[in-house]
Amino acid sequence: MIHEVEFREGLEGLTPARIMTLYRRAPLIRPVDAQEKVWEMYENSSLVVTAWHEGHLVGIARVLTDGVLQSYLCDLAVEPDVQGLGIGKKMIDEVLERCKGTELLLRDSNISSSFYERLGFLRVENAWMRTAG
Ligand SMILES: CC(C)(COP(=O)(O)OP(=O)(O)OC[C@H]1O[C@@H](n2cnc3c(N)ncnc32)[C@H](O)[C@@H]1OP(=O)(O)O)[C@@H](O)C(=O)NCCC(=O)NCCS
Repeated sequence: MIHEVEFREGLEGLTPARIMTLYRRAPLIRPVDAQEKVWEMYENSSLVVTAWHEGHLVGIARVLTDGVLQSYLCDLAVEPDVQGLGIGKKMIDEVLERCKGTELLLRDSNISSSFYERLGFLRVENAWMRTAG
């Protein structure tokens, strides 16, 4: 099935409603429910990679990068009906290809930490965060 999935770069085909449906189903919890805010997040991202199967959005990844040293993977979600088929891994490969030479940081969740470990990511201890407040 994975060979029938088309991977795209950019916002083509995306709508806030499609993004929010995928987040809800994956699930990927994001404290944003206003459609214009979701769209702003995507417009302001350096890189968006999407996966499509038979016209349906089945995967999404969003990255902020300086293109030289550092990249931050903000979101990664795969439609639950097609999870476990290699789409998430391929999306990470697509991101790494486009952010080559930079280190890729991300926040994980309990359900996805083993996924990143499986893909060769290293857990770091020296990260700090200020909440949005
Ligand atoms: C995490 C997620 C993106 C993985 O995508 P996916 O398409 O299901 O993953 P893949 O099929 O590409 O899996 C790649 C490898 O990781 C393994 N894997 C996938 N999800 C895993 C998980 N939750 N825990 C452990 N291993 C996992 C697969 O078995 C596969 O291993 P293999 O190479 O030995 O076959 C997807 O499950 C998802 O959208 N989850 C909900 C949202 C989420 O948690 N996003 C991450 C936010 S930080």
